[in-house]
Amino acid sequence: MPSPRRKVLEVLQGSTVTPPPIWLMRQAGRYLPEYRETRKQAGSFLQLCYSPDLATEVTLQPIRRYGFDAAILFSDILVIPDGLDRNVHFIEGSGPRMEPIDEEGIFSLSPEKVLPHLKPVMQAVEQIRARLPDETTLLGFCGAPWTVATYMIAGHGTSDQAPARLFGYRHPKAFAHLLAVLADLSADYLVAQIDAGADAVQIFDSWAGVLGETEFEEYAIKPVARIIRSVKERRPQAKIIAFAKGAGMNLRHYRQKTGADMIGLDWSVPLSFAADLQKDGPVQGNLDPMRVVAGGLALDDGIDAILQVLGQGPLVFNLGHGITPEANPDHVTQLVNRVRGIAHGA
Ligand code: CP3
Repeated sequence: MPSPRRKVLEVLQGSTVTPPPIWLMRQAGRYLPEYRETRKQAGSFLQLCYSPDLATEVTLQPIRRYGFDAAILFSDILVIPDGLDRNVHFIEGSGPRMEPIDEEGIFSLSPEKVLPHLKPVMQAVEQIRARLPDETTLLGFCGAPWTVATYMIAGHGTSDQAPARLFGYRHPKAFAHLLAVLADLSADYLVAQIDAGADAVQIFDSWAGVLGETEFEEYAIKPVARIIRSVKERRPQAKIIAFAKGAGMNLRHYRQKTGADMIGLDWSVPLSFAADLQKDGPVQGNLDPMRVVAGGLALDDGIDAILQVLGQGPLVFNLGHGITPEANPDHVTQLVNRVRGIAHGA
């Protein structure tokens, strides 16, 4: 049998695929009624992440509904701090909470517990791959050390990550140690996901945009480069997407400095700059998720602009950040059809 074409993987390998393959960040989530149903059954959000059967089910839901070209493992970036015993929990409507970490806590972390704790995630990856259509790329993921550290320091989400930025200036040695521990753990975690059946992985640095130039180099580039180097030393074929949200001009040398195969772009990246970045390799993005909430012409125009500027080169169509709970599932149908060139109503 000929091997199936996994289009997202082909783009990651440098090919231009027309029309571009598509998946959406947070494609399994609260905008889908079937997700909300499974989520109720699971009890807590973390129970959903650690139940291989339920995590498999919610990963497959958006594939069944839309036939996306990639599935992304259903889990969360905060399972790593959870494995580090930071007492992670999610409060309905207000997001994640955990015990804020201090210098002493950082130097007494026990990383050896984490991978055994994440076994159910690897079991989910195996099950998902077994049940996914052959042509669907399976993506694993982790959070970038900086983004994960922001939650570990503050103990919750903040709008500007002031607590982690301050901590970095006040306690540079402890902060560097935290980033190194997270980078090494994340590399082991990604290798385990690849071994369990992930075709490629994405590193989410959702809070890269609050960093100054020097800190971007130290906190965003170096740890991500350390993860990618470590994964590729052990799994030379591994393909890696790096998404540094809000990084702006700092994206100029991000691919080259981190070793990422494809870079994810948020919607604030001008398409002319995106086209420059695409000259060096594949890009992913970058529709404003609010266009999916709005639907109609706002959605069509946003899609067309991206396809016009980036559609002739290696592109994976995606949003510029996760889809929001307010998005109308019918607008996602409109999005997928338009990217694939299927006429409205067809
Ligand atoms: O993309 C997918 O479909 C896969 C699953 C996925 C989730 N979180 C599920 C989730 C992925 C890839 C993530 C990544 C993640 N988690 C990031 C990086 C990407 C980003 O969106 O910036 C971050 C910063 C987190 C941390 C996190 N998890 C926060 C801040 C929250 C609360 C905010 C919110 O949207 O509610 C979560 C919870 C979470 N993770 C939900 C989902 C579907 C919603 C919780 C629920 O269903 O009750």
